[in-house]
Amino acid sequence: MRMIDIITKKRDGESLNEEEIRWFVDAYSNGDVPDYQASAFAMAIYFKGMSQAEAAALTYAMAESGDQLDLSLIEGVKVDKHSTGGVGDKTTLILGPLVAALDIPVAKMSGRGLGHTGGTIDKLEAFEGFRTEIDEEEFIQLVNTNKMAVAGQSGNLTPADKKLYALRDVTATVNSIPLIASSVMSKKIASGADAIVLDVKTGSGAFMEEIEEARQLAEAMVDIGNSLDRKTMAVISNMDQPLGRFVGNALEVKEAIETLQGNGPDDLHELSITLASHMAVLGGKADNEAEGRELVEKTIKDKSALEKMKQFIKGQGGNAEAVDHSELLANANITSNVVSASSGYVSGMHAAEIGKAAMMLGAGRETKDDVIDHAVGIELTKKIGDYVEKGEPLAVMHANHEETENVAEMIRNAFAFSKEKIEKPTLIFDTIY
Ligand code: URA
Repeated sequence: MRMIDIITKKRDGESLNEEEIRWFVDAYSNGDVPDYQASAFAMAIYFKGMSQAEAAALTYAMAESGDQLDLSLIEGVKVDKHSTGGVGDKTTLILGPLVAALDIPVAKMSGRGLGHTGGTIDKLEAFEGFRTEIDEEEFIQLVNTNKMAVAGQSGNLTPADKKLYALRDVTATVNSIPLIASSVMSKKIASGADAIVLDVKTGSGAFMEEIEEARQLAEAMVDIGNSLDRKTMAVISNMDQPLGRFVGNALEVKEAIETLQGNGPDDLHELSITLASHMAVLGGKADNEAEGRELVEKTIKDKSALEKMKQFIKGQGGNAEAVDHSELLANANITSNVVSASSGYVSGMHAAEIGKAAMMLGAGRETKDDVIDHAVGIELTKKIGDYVEKGEPLAVMHANHEETENVAEMIRNAFAFSKEKIEKPTLIFDTIY
């Protein structure tokens, strides 16, 4: 087979067969296909797209390009959740214990944060002693014992995707629906999931700013998952403002604990319950979402989800006492208000800018080697639809250094106001099976 023939076919809008796609993935991984040909191929896909069968073949070949987690020693249906990334998204910390309390095994590989979105691993490391570098044997044993474990991503998971994603990043070919869908799904398949619930975000803090693009991405991922025999569904949710009220690692952990205690903010509570209900359905514990919701809500009321959180944190060496005593989590030394320069209803918020402001306080990484400060972050005291008087706080910065005026300005500028009353935004736009 020759790479030039594969590029030509795709450039001319023809479909590639499974053999051709696998040949490309193998040859590119081995270094037999140079970056310039892979770039031309990615650009041809960007313009001509891929059929569902082509995207599924690309996903499967990339999933098989490196290590694959074998979770067959874990009993039950392993349901994974994936979010396309957002600001203040701490749902994994909530719905993990919610579904584990229903005896659905949660075996999750998670990443660290980069740029304006945070990573679950960073949040969990706000618990003193929490270990995320665990080998496969211990991971399986932890899930079998506690029904929940979260590990950092293995070094050799989907190397073909890693190489192709890095190339796409510098060749203006990231924003292709079949390439994003196969990239995300290859990692889910290699992580051993039997079923997958996707949270596809749309809005100012999301990868897909427009709802129609988010829908196309969700449909592409659901099609790929189902055609590879993984029960897959997606929820399209709003990321026009951060989820919940807190952005920053220990602050988000505290908010997740409050949600498990039944005292979380409405948007975070509702999205977590919705995703967990779908996980209960795919995990075989409920026949439909309403039934799943009833089961999941019960785990909050009877505190079994909170107990599950403690068991999970302890199992991975973390200080589980912090679940009941959140003052044991890192606290920042300085808190200061960001006051509003205008009066009116909050009509919009640039979620990505809030994420960047939190990063500048030290809560996130600009480059992958940056060290993060778990204590710092932002508390939003106003969200879309709330009324604010000039001089009233919009947010509180939790910082460990004094020079925060530029961050305060960034936060202020992230807000938009209206004199007219503004409705609370829709949280969940659609559900796709
Ligand atoms: N996230 C991924 O994992 N892959 C993409 O292609 C885009 C976002």
